[in-house]
Amino acid sequence: MVEKIKTLIEEVNGFASNDAKEIEAFRIRFLGKKGTVPGLFSKLKQAKDEEKKVLGNAVNQLKALAQEKITLLKNNLQDFDAVRSPVADLTLPGDPLTPGTRHPISIVKNKIIDIFSKIGFNISEGPEIEDDWHNFSALNLPKHHPARDMQDTFFLKTNPELLLRTHTSSVQVRYMENHKPPIRTISPGRVYRNEAVSARSHCFFHQVEGLYVDKNVSFADLKQTIRFFTEELFGKSKIRLRPSYFPFTEPSAEVDVYWGLDTEADYRITKGTGWLEIMGCGMVDPNVLENCGINPKDYSGFAFGMGIDRIALLLYQIDDIRLFSENDLRFLKQFKREIF
Ligand code: DAH
Repeated sequence: MVEKIKTLIEEVNGFASNDAKEIEAFRIRFLGKKGTVPGLFSKLKQAKDEEKKVLGNAVNQLKALAQEKITLLKNNLQDFDAVRSPVADLTLPGDPLTPGTRHPISIVKNKIIDIFSKIGFNISEGPEIEDDWHNFSALNLPKHHPARDMQDTFFLKTNPELLLRTHTSSVQVRYMENHKPPIRTISPGRVYRNEAVSARSHCFFHQVEGLYVDKNVSFADLKQTIRFFTEELFGKSKIRLRPSYFPFTEPSAEVDVYWGLDTEADYRITKGTGWLEIMGCGMVDPNVLENCGINPKDYSGFAFGMGIDRIALLLYQIDDIRLFSENDLRFLKQFKREIF
C-alpha cells in the first residue's frame, strides 16, 4: 500500500493543466467523496496497528499535495484568463479628465507671493489658533488696550487664553522671535473675526502680511516696495499714503492706489474718487521689535497687511465675498484658465 501511495504522489506532482474541466476532474478523482484519498482513509482502518502510523502519514501527505496542486492550478487559471481577455480596448478614445480649477483666492495669493519673491521675500506661516501674546500683546496691544476692539475676536470656549487669529500680523511676531535680521518675509493665511456675514464682509477671510527688518530700513523703502507691488499686480503705480493708526506701526499709513475713472465700474468701486484703499502699513514700532528680541537701536523695519479676498473681488469684479466659501462649481469653474 505504501508503494501505491508513492506512485499516486508522483502522479499528483506531475499533474499540470490549463483547463478548468481537467482540474475539476482531477479534484474529484483524488479528493471527491468516492475519490482515491477517502478510499485510502477507509482502507487505513483495516490496516494493522503497527502500519497505521506510516500509512496514515503517507495518505495525509498525498491529500495535502493534491489540495495544494489544485489551488495552484486554479490560481494560474485566473491569471491565464486575465491575460487572454484584455481589460481595456486600447483603441477606444480616453475618458475625458476634467482638470480641476484653482480657487480665485489661491490665484491671487499665488500672484502676490510671486511678486514679492521677485524682490527677495520668503514665505512664512503661523497657526490659525493663536495665543494672546502673538495676536495682541507683542504687537503693542496690551490687555484692555482700546485698539483691541478694532477687531472682534473669537475666543476658544475650551481655553479662553486661545483665540482665532484676527490678522496675519501674528506671524510677524513668530517670525521675528525665531529669525535674526535681515528679515524679508510675507505671510499669507486665513484670519477670523466675529462679524456678521454679508456680501461685503465675512467671519473668515485671507490676508498677506509683509515684514522687512534690517539696518537703516526707511519709510522710502516701504513706499517703493508697495509701488513696485501695485505696478506688478494691477499695472498701476500711482499710489498715495494716508496717515493712519495701527498699534504695531509708527508712523502708520493706509495705501490707496489710483484706479482711475475710465469706466462706470471704476466710478462705482472707487465711489467716484478714482482712489482705492488696498492695505495698511507702517514702520514697525520699536516696542514690537523689542518684544520679539530685536534691538530697535540697531534695526528698523516696515510692515504691511492686505486682504486677499478684497483684492480678488476687485480683480475679478465679484460682488459677493460669500461666493468664495460656498463651493458653488458654477462660480469656481470660471477660473480654470488661470495659470497660477
Ligand atoms: N493687521 C492689520 C489688519 O488686520 C493690517 C496691517 C496694518 C498689517 C498695518 C500691518 C501693518 O503689518 O503695518 O487690519
